Amino acid sequence: MAESIVEVRSLSKSFGAVNALQDVSFAIGKGEVFTLLGPSGCGKSTTLRIVAGLEDASGGEVRLNGRTIFSAEEHINLPPEKRNMGMVFQSYAIWPHMTVAENVAYPLKLRRLPRAEIRERVMTALRLVDLEAQADRDAPKLSGGQQQRVALARALVYEPEVLLLDEPLSNLDVKLREQMRFELKVLQQRLGLTLIYVTHDQSEALSLSDRIAVMSQGRVEQIGAPDELYDRPRTEFVRDFLGKTVTLPGRIGAVNGASARVVLNGGAGDLVCTAPPGMAVPASGSDVKVAIRPERIALSLAGPGGDNRLSGRVETVLYQGDRTECAVRVGGSLITVYGPPEARTMRDRDVGLVLAPEALTLWPK
Ligand SMILES: Nc1ncnc2c1ncn2[C@@H]1O[C@H](COP(=O)(O)OP(=O)(O)OP(=O)(O)O)[C@@H](O)[C@H]1O
Ligand SMILES: [Mg+2]
Repeated sequence: MAESIVEVRSLSKSFGAVNALQDVSFAIGKGEVFTLLGPSGCGKSTTLRIVAGLEDASGGEVRLNGRTIFSAEEHINLPPEKRNMGMVFQSYAIWPHMTVAENVAYPLKLRRLPRAEIRERVMTALRLVDLEAQADRDAPKLSGGQQQRVALARALVYEPEVLLLDEPLSNLDVKLREQMRFELKVLQQRLGLTLIYVTHDQSEALSLSDRIAVMSQGRVEQIGAPDELYDRPRTEFVRDFLGKTVTLPGRIGAVNGASARVVLNGGAGDLVCTAPPGMAVPASGSDVKVAIRPERIALSLAGPGGDNRLSGRVETVLYQGDRTECAVRVGGSLITVYGPPEARTMRDRDVGLVLAPEALTLWPK
């Protein structure tokens, strides 16, 4: 990674007895979209607010372009307006008594820029978010998506080095959210913006980010590229937060280096699996769980035979248009498999399941 723009070192924060953050560290490169992802209360907004200077931490440091802008130990705390960061909140925080253009002009007025320059920069920012035509309308009379874009234009107008976005799309309905997600990505790529993005929505995080930090209870669980976290999660928390997982209980049979044959419970068959990085293959006879993402299981009408094939019976089908979600009984387990749309007629049928060997991972019981 190129030189980092923002570096967060070992942040901790407590609110009375609540430990909101513990030892949170990450570094972000120029032009990167870095997302803090995690469930409600895990400390995402607190981290972002500390980076913005809206909150101080109990311990740790924040650096911007190599310069310390916050340090608990050295009592350094640069005020937010001197950090050159733009911030967009979930609630948009649009000023209701102003027009669209006045809203966007506000940060420039605070910085006492000449009037002509303000007008020009405001129109440029509004053009970026496709709201030029609405410049003189009253801001609160716009739709949710348009107000969202006003908030974005207001954060972009003074060309901050880093944009901080705290659940900026969560007030929008599903369709609009997906459209705005796409527009945000296009804008980010076009302008080479550096973003710290906060969300609890895994699909938003996977689709927008270059890297994600998954947080739980005030700590960073894992940092990595979206596909790295999705395919090679280091903890069950990360695995399950990022998507659906099928797990099958079993016992280790023959071990061969980093892989082992797992005999599934209930006579469901056996599978060859590798342990996740950093975890040793448990000894023969240990109880384990085998995990796989549902889309890595192929449904076939041919019977079993060959490695990593299991047989099962379709118990329930949920037709979704582009695919059919099937609940398949395999031994004692009922697992979710995504079949083709035509699988909607397969209820009560015996099927074969082919599990992609490279997608199988081994977990402690
Ligand atoms: N001003 C405050 N006073 C007391 N406790 C706070 C304050 N702000 C946050 N907390 C607590 O700190 C923890 C982290 O809060 P934070 O707002 O960072 O979570 P979050 O990950 O942004 O959650 P959400 O997804 O719900 O926005 C929570 O337990 C929260 O209750
Ligand atoms: Mg929050």
